[in-house]
This record gives sequence, C-alpha cells and structure tokens, in this order.
Amino acid sequence: MTEMYANQTVVVTGTAGFVGSHLTDGLLANGARVIGVDNFLTGRASNLEHLKENPNFTFIESDVTLPTINYLTDQPKIDAIFHLASPASPPRYQEHPVETYLVNSYATHQLLQYIKNVHPRAKFIFASTSEVYGEPHEHPQKEGYWGNVNPNGVRSCYDEAKRLGETICGVHQRDFNLDVRIMRIFNTYGPRMDPRDGRVIPQFITQALAHQPYTIYGDGSQTRSYCYVNDLVDGILKFGSMLGLSGITVNLGNPGEYAVKQTAEIIHQLVHPNTQPEFEFRTLPGDDPTRRQPDITLAIDKLGWQPTIDFRTGIKHTLEYFQELATY
Ligand SMILES: NC(=O)c1ccc[n+]([C@@H]2O[C@H](COP(=O)([O-])OP(=O)(O)OC[C@H]3O[C@@H](n4cnc5c(N)ncnc54)[C@H](O)[C@@H]3O)[C@@H](O)[C@H]2O)c1
Repeated sequence: MTEMYANQTVVVTGTAGFVGSHLTDGLLANGARVIGVDNFLTGRASNLEHLKENPNFTFIESDVTLPTINYLTDQPKIDAIFHLASPASPPRYQEHPVETYLVNSYATHQLLQYIKNVHPRAKFIFASTSEVYGEPHEHPQKEGYWGNVNPNGVRSCYDEAKRLGETICGVHQRDFNLDVRIMRIFNTYGPRMDPRDGRVIPQFITQALAHQPYTIYGDGSQTRSYCYVNDLVDGILKFGSMLGLSGITVNLGNPGEYAVKQTAEIIHQLVHPNTQPEFEFRTLPGDDPTRRQPDITLAIDKLGWQPTIDFRTGIKHTLEYFQELATY
C-alpha cells in the first residue's frame, strides 16, 4: 500500500472531534506523524483513547484561536495543517456562538499567518461546510454557487463564519501565495459522533434504541445527504495530499438524498423491523435548509473520489457503536 503522508508532519485541529479523530487515524495509517490540537469544547478524550501509546501521535490541549506560535512553539517541520476545529451541530454552535465564529474566522487567520511566517511551504486545508450554500436556489449544489445565506440569523454564527473562513483562505492563497485548499463537507455520520450533539442521525439512533418517538422538525420533507465518515476521510486524505490543488474548493459528501422523515423510517426498520415508527412533530427552527445535496463532479474529476458506502451499511456500523456506548 502506498502511504500518502509518509514522513510528513501534519497538524489536525479538532482532533478529538468526530471527523478529526477519524482523520487523525487515516493520516497515521498513511505514514504521517500527527500533532493533534483540541480544547474539548465539543470533542471527547475517548475519541483519542486508542492513540495514547502511538509514538507518531502528539496531543496538545489548546484553544486554536490563540496565536499558533503559543502552542506549536518549536515545531521544526510542518507539512500540512488540517483546520477542523469548530462545533458542527446547530445546538452546539448555538450554545457557543462566539467560540464558533472565532474558531472559523480568527483561528483560521492565526493558523494561516503562522504558516506564512514559519512554514510557508505547508499546505492548509480548511473544513468548510455545505452550510455556506444556505437555503440554496440551485440544486444540487456545485462549488461555483455562491449561496443564499442569512447574515444575521440563528445559524449565521456558523454559516457566515465559515464563509469568512473561506475568504481568509482565499486572501492567503492569492495574496501570500500559500497552498490553501477548501473542502465543503456535507452531512457526515458514523461511529464517535456524540450521541447528545443534536444532529439528525445520532438523534434518531438514540431515540430508536430508547424506544422513543422520532422528533421531526417541520413535516420532515426537508432533505439531507449523508456521507459515511470513512468515505469522507478517504476524500480528505486525497484532497490534502495531491499536488496542484492550491486554490481549489471542493464539495465532499454523498449525493444520496433522503427526506428527514424517511431517514427516521430507515433507522427504525433497521432497529425494530416490522414495526411502525412513531413521530413527534415540532416547529421547524429558523433558517433550516429545505434541500441539501452535493454535486461531486469536481471531486470525481480532480481526486478520483466518490463515496462507496451505502446508507444502510453505514447506519449499521454507526448503530453498533451507539449500542456499545449504551452498554457502558
Ligand atoms: N460532521 C459533519 O457533518 C460536518 C459537516 C460540515 C462541516 N463539518 C466541519 O468539520 C469539522 C469537524 O466537525 P465534527 O463533526 O467533527 O465536529 P465535532 O464537534 O465533533 O469536532 C470539532 C472539534 O473541534 C474542537 N474545537 C472547537 N473549537 C476549538 C478551539 N477553539 N480550539 C481547539 N479545538 C476546538 C472541539 O472540541 C471538537 O473536538 C468542523 O469544522 C465542521 O464545521 C462537519
């Protein structure tokens, strides 16, 4: 097997989070030495437990909105920084709005200034989001679509901060000639998601396992596209390692589209086959997007990547993780 990151030193911010911990595993498996940084705002130490004895993994507990030099003090060599630190679920970022806009904007600036001043040959890969498309007028969403986002609503501490993060990336790529790449991640799910973080998949799985009705906001006809985390990490690893991708923004997600109510029905059938699900309908929160589906043509063309794990298979793996958690 070729190791995409052999002999490289890579920093992952948000390493204790859901995606960050899987990305850290993927980088280590591909030969990297990983420096993971996290302040446990929404991440969990248990996500890194298996790496405790790994000599190629170093953990630094720090807030990445601090000047980067404060915590990455004397690193002689850094080949890439993946900036994933940020609350990602609406309840979590609404609970931490200031931390959310700072980590996506000011921390992005701090990290890029550090690269510019200390490691100008390092790549910077920013975890943006499908939320930059807001309530889209285009469907599915291509990277060239600029979005339709409320600048001052209940989700804007996240959406607009990611958009500003993208601006900061663009400035450093164009004006300071750094290798900066932006990935717009669409809904991702899998083991190590926090069961309490309020995202749709953990919420429905938790409710299925507890024999509770499924909470549906609105009538549940709004759609989402769900990508299994292993697929996403494969895409991120390729995007971060291939040459000639500076300045590129790419959608990473699974185009399979499901209505939210249908999502609950599928999970219900896997957990309680041959029974009927019960629903509890609630008012749709502000600025909830009605449709979400990535156009991944660019990822297919540039990276030769597309998801391979179908929704039911991914949900079965995720269920196993949640069932294990429930037995502790
Ligand atoms: N999971 C998804 O479906 C999804 C979709 C789109 C974009 N993303 C993006 O991917 C990234 C990871 O998302 P996730 O689902 O793993 O979320 P997560 O909440 O599980 O992980 C985020 C991690 O960042 C850490 N963090 C937050 N602020 C920090 C700070 N100031 N300093 C240091 N660490 C900090 C948290 O403690 C946590 O460990 C985020 O940037 C998110 O916006 C995720």
